[in-house]
Amino acid sequence: MSDLTDSSTWQELKQHHDRLLNVSLSDLFKEDEVRASSFSRSVADLSIDFSKNLIDQDVVDCLLKLANESDLKNKISAMFRGDKINFTEHRAVLHTALRDISDQPVFVDGVNVKPQVQAVLGRMTKLANLINNRQLNGATGKIIKNIINIGIGGSDLGPASAYLALKDYTNKDLVVRFVSNVDYSDFYNAVVDLDPAETLFIISSKTFTTEETMTNTQSARLWIVDALGESAIEKHFIAVSTNKTAVELFGINLNNMFEFWDWVGGRYSLCSAIGLSLMIAIGSDNFYAMLGGFNKMDQHFFNSSFDTNLPVLLALISIWYGNFWQTQTSAIIPYSYNLARLPAYLQQAVMESNGKSVDINGNLVDYQTSPIIWGEPGTNAQHAFFQLLHQGTILVPVDFIGFIKANNKDNKIHHDKLMANMIAQAEALAFGEKQSLSQGDDLSSRHQMFTGNKPSTFILGKKLTPEIFGELIAMYEHKIFTEGIIWGINSFDQFGVELGKKLAKNIYQEIISDSLLSNHDASTVSLIKKMKDV
Ligand code: F6P
Repeated sequence: MSDLTDSSTWQELKQHHDRLLNVSLSDLFKEDEVRASSFSRSVADLSIDFSKNLIDQDVVDCLLKLANESDLKNKISAMFRGDKINFTEHRAVLHTALRDISDQPVFVDGVNVKPQVQAVLGRMTKLANLINNRQLNGATGKIIKNIINIGIGGSDLGPASAYLALKDYTNKDLVVRFVSNVDYSDFYNAVVDLDPAETLFIISSKTFTTEETMTNTQSARLWIVDALGESAIEKHFIAVSTNKTAVELFGINLNNMFEFWDWVGGRYSLCSAIGLSLMIAIGSDNFYAMLGGFNKMDQHFFNSSFDTNLPVLLALISIWYGNFWQTQTSAIIPYSYNLARLPAYLQQAVMESNGKSVDINGNLVDYQTSPIIWGEPGTNAQHAFFQLLHQGTILVPVDFIGFIKANNKDNKIHHDKLMANMIAQAEALAFGEKQSLSQGDDLSSRHQMFTGNKPSTFILGKKLTPEIFGELIAMYEHKIFTEGIIWGINSFDQFGVELGKKLAKNIYQEIISDSLLSNHDASTVSLIKKMKDV
């Protein structure tokens, strides 16, 4: 047994689980008239109502004890002050410094990183303003109007999902697109209707070695050079990276490079220069407002006691289900169509961070770590997989995310209907329908039975603004951190993605050449052969 599962708090939580197994949410609400407010918290412009979870105050107290015993407070301080908590890669983890515009220095290897952050933000602002003011010209003198971000994973999901989330704030005179997949269709579809002379590529890659991004970048280079000649590269390519050497090698002038640093994890990089395409799309003021939102949640996470701390409470609820109710998945259902890519963004943030089975001491863990994150926007999700949530055999904790106000003045009817659905789903999942339960004798009525007792957390923002989007994302980032600390794992490396990349490189060589296929299993050999036959 690990120290964690052996701890008296863990054992106590197991007993709480057994105690609550036969208690319904209806009972819990009946017993406690103030339950809804006792289990609601708010900070800045976000509130969470976690009263429809299978918890009571004893459970929450015990979970808070678990957080305290993990030394979470000190671990948070260590991250914010720049300790190299990503110890497997010997790196600090300082995405919080990217959105802290105070003068407070933050040191990495004795160097205050804040001036560098400000300098890059300043250069980003300059470029974003130039483009928004129609003052950036391509090689032929035409005005740049099309921005294509090429990147994948953290160099795509953050800006791409934020761009969609903040669509109402974007400059409609610009075309902003995101290319990530090595499937040529992705690149082709992004450029097919564009004029190369009006197009700027932003090559976003922390390492500047990622196969998909480099392949798409080569295609972009061909597309520009074919139309405008080799000399046009300088005016049509920008790099965002930590790797100056690779950027130069590719032929991009370092004056056209926006730097970030190894202490920014890919999946935590939206507030770095990786957000350049987003800043161009929404303008620098809105980008700064988003940074302000991130920072508000950072401060809340850093300063608040755990029982009022949104990220900590969300993490504890997640641990409660995964480790004590043995749920394996968790659904994120935004009732905001503009948050359609949020589940994908959080999939990387959560699963690449916490999908680990070895703890910080190198021991195999004997408890579940990251759940599978999945989801789609409501109400579409209701017409797809909510059947299983209501009547299936597995328990799926849900995060509902919605906003009190619509973004567009004209859509009050739509918005009220949307939010009515969100509130109704949380109610239906929690309480089911008693009437059908009482028709116990009639077997056929079972098909229409809603047993309820399905947990959810209701996350409500005032409006989907850049600032509140920042608060929301930072809340999830720190939730992930908290879970990682309690599980005793390193949330900031991602070695699990490497083997597949290595094998794909070899297999690609085997597909395009006559090389032998001796090191593979029979199935893999046969699949490679099929590719060679065409
Ligand atoms: O393969 C996973 C990963 O390394 C992610 O962690 C990262 O966000 C993504 O690839 C892209 O990496 P890069 O920004 O270096 O191109």
